[in-house]
Amino acid sequence: MATKASTKSATKPANQAVTKMEGAGLPQTNPSVNVQPLLNQQIKAPEPIQRYGTVSQRLPIVLSDEVRLDSVTMLNQLLADTMTLRDLYKKSHWQVAGPTFYQLHLLFDAHYEKQSELVDTIAERIQMLGGIAVALSFDVAELTSIPRAPRDREEVPVMISRLLQAHQIILQQCHDIAKRADESGDDGTNDLAVSDVMRENEQEVWFVSEHLVDAPLLRAE
Ligand SMILES: [Fe+2]
Repeated sequence: MATKASTKSATKPANQAVTKMEGAGLPQTNPSVNVQPLLNQQIKAPEPIQRYGTVSQRLPIVLSDEVRLDSVTMLNQLLADTMTLRDLYKKSHWQVAGPTFYQLHLLFDAHYEKQSELVDTIAERIQMLGGIAVALSFDVAELTSIPRAPRDREEVPVMISRLLQAHQIILQQCHDIAKRADESGDDGTNDLAVSDVMRENEQEVWFVSEHLVDAPLLRAE
């Protein structure tokens, strides 16, 4: 019986809807629903729904367009630099070498995870303000103010110095954003810059900097 049913079903055209029960266990298909996904769609309107660099979406968060645009511009710079620092940590996690390999390998990855969380926090703040968060590596490469590191594998002190330089650039931005957002009344952005980004970056600076202290390892001097 089962063989007979499957033979009958196989003779149907592939796109013909099954509208009545033809045997126990056969699927029922709703003829009014086309289940084929609409693939390969391309933009038809002359414009995208929102241009980068605008704050077109006005969520009711009691902030003027001017204030939101100013915050979005600053936050996109902070976002691009945070994404670069995040990736610098992963590069360091992979390429670190020497006697401190294991502890730095783990520390760098922990900081990578923290920076990834900050990336999401900053990007979503930008969207809340009605802007568009920069997202792709191509755009980040154009926007970031952190100097490009070589593809080569570098010594640990050089690696750490690069990370600290990136942290300083981001921390300076945090101070600038916090001050400006405070003056403009964008308290949410001020809080993000201080409570989230600044606090985390300051702690990471501490953890990483201590690895550059030339303290005696085995014998007191
Ligand atoms: Fe890993």
